[in-house]
This record gives sequence, structure tokens and C-alpha cells, in this order.
Amino acid sequence: MKLTIVSGSQRAKSQSLNVAKYLAKLANTHFTEVDVLDLYELNLPFWNEGVWQGGEEWKQWTPIAEKLKQSDAFVFISPEWHGMATPALKNFLLLTKDDELAHKPALLVGTSASVNGVYPISELKVSGNKNNHVCFIPDHLIFRNVQDIIDENFDCQNESLHERSVYTVALLAGYARALAPLHGDMLAAGKPFRFGM
Ligand SMILES: Cc1cc2nc3c(=O)[nH]c(=O)nc-3n(C[C@H](O)[C@H](O)[C@H](O)COP(=O)(O)O)c2cc1C
Repeated sequence: MKLTIVSGSQRAKSQSLNVAKYLAKLANTHFTEVDVLDLYELNLPFWNEGVWQGGEEWKQWTPIAEKLKQSDAFVFISPEWHGMATPALKNFLLLTKDDELAHKPALLVGTSASVNGVYPISELKVSGNKNNHVCFIPDHLIFRNVQDIIDENFDCQNESLHERSVYTVALLAGYARALAPLHGDMLAAGKPFRFGM
């Protein structure tokens, strides 16, 4: 099984990227391939109609979409910025389609330099999957005081959060196994209903 982890911070050397690297280490137990996409490094343009016509600036999206298609599960990490998910992650989700994500499980992860981090998860759970039809699993993770918790080796210094992370990544893998047939079985049938009600 393949996992793609998306670090949603558009800042260089972000804490969210550190969390992505930590979760990637945990995920290696369950997934044969784990990729981390750093939205700072990718520096994707904001959505425009060119993406539909395959414009020059969107050539970089094709291999990313292909990677997502090949993935069995996802982790979406967002720092809380002014109580919101980042523009970079919202833009990324705007670019995704049912072809890549539909009926595959995704774990939502919030990060905060203080004691917050739940708002981006709430925001994404409300509408982040309406058109791409990704399945957010019921459990999520929040890394509060994140700069004090993930060390330079990308290990988690908070034992209870580490135990919860080990469990939640295992849970994500369980959903990936259970939901595996759904994408292929339902993608074509869902095309008339892909934009919701
Ligand atoms: C524009 C901006 C807004 C922020 N707003 C919040 C916030 O609302 N709540 C919060 O807990 N942290 C906030 N932070 C701090 C982040 O939690 C902090 O940057 C943390 O390291 C996670 O972001 P990173 O992945 O970009 O490093 C904000 C940071 C920035 C740059």
C-alpha cells in the first residue's frame, strides 16, 4: 500500500514538515511506499482555469495527480493560521479530483505553536472533501507546542501523543485495507454525482 503525506504549510522549514517526517517514519511499518509532499517546496500556483487546459504552469501538477492516483491513503497536515487551514492546503484540495482521491481514507493533522490546532481540522471536515470525495477518518491528530515536541531526528518527545500517533497511523492503514476496492468499484458510477447535491 502507498501513502502520500501532504505538509500544508507554505513556510520554509515548517513545523508541519517536521510532523510529516515523523509520521512518515511511523507509516513505514504499514505502507510499502510513503511520500511526503511539502507544499512550500512545490510552490503550486493558485488555481486558475489553465489547470483544465493543461497550461504550461500546470505541467507540474500531472505527476502529483498521478502520485495521488497511485496512493491508497493520505495524511493532510495543516498548521492553524489565524484559526484557519492554510491557503496552500485549500488550494491543493481545490486541485484534487475524485479521480485521485475518491473513497480513499485520509487522516487530518493540525499543528500549532501554542495550544490550538483544532480549527483547521474542523474546517477541512466541513467541506474539504465535497468534490474530491476523500474519506476523512473519524480520528485526527493535533501537535500542540509543536516546536517543543518533534526533535531534530523527527521523533516525538511527548509519549502519550506518540502512542496516539502510532495507533492513529495503524488505524489509517486499517481503513486503507478495508476501503481498497471502493475507489475502483465506485469511481465511474459516481461521475454523475461528483459535485454533490
Ligand atoms: C500567518 C500565521 C498565522 C498563525 N495563526 C495561528 C493561529 O491562529 N493559531 C495557532 O495556534 N498558531 C498560529 N500560528 C503559529 C503556527 O502555529 C506556527 O507557525 C506553527 O509552527 C505551525 O506552522 P508551520 O507548520 O508553518 O511551522 C500562525 C502562524 C502564522 C505564520
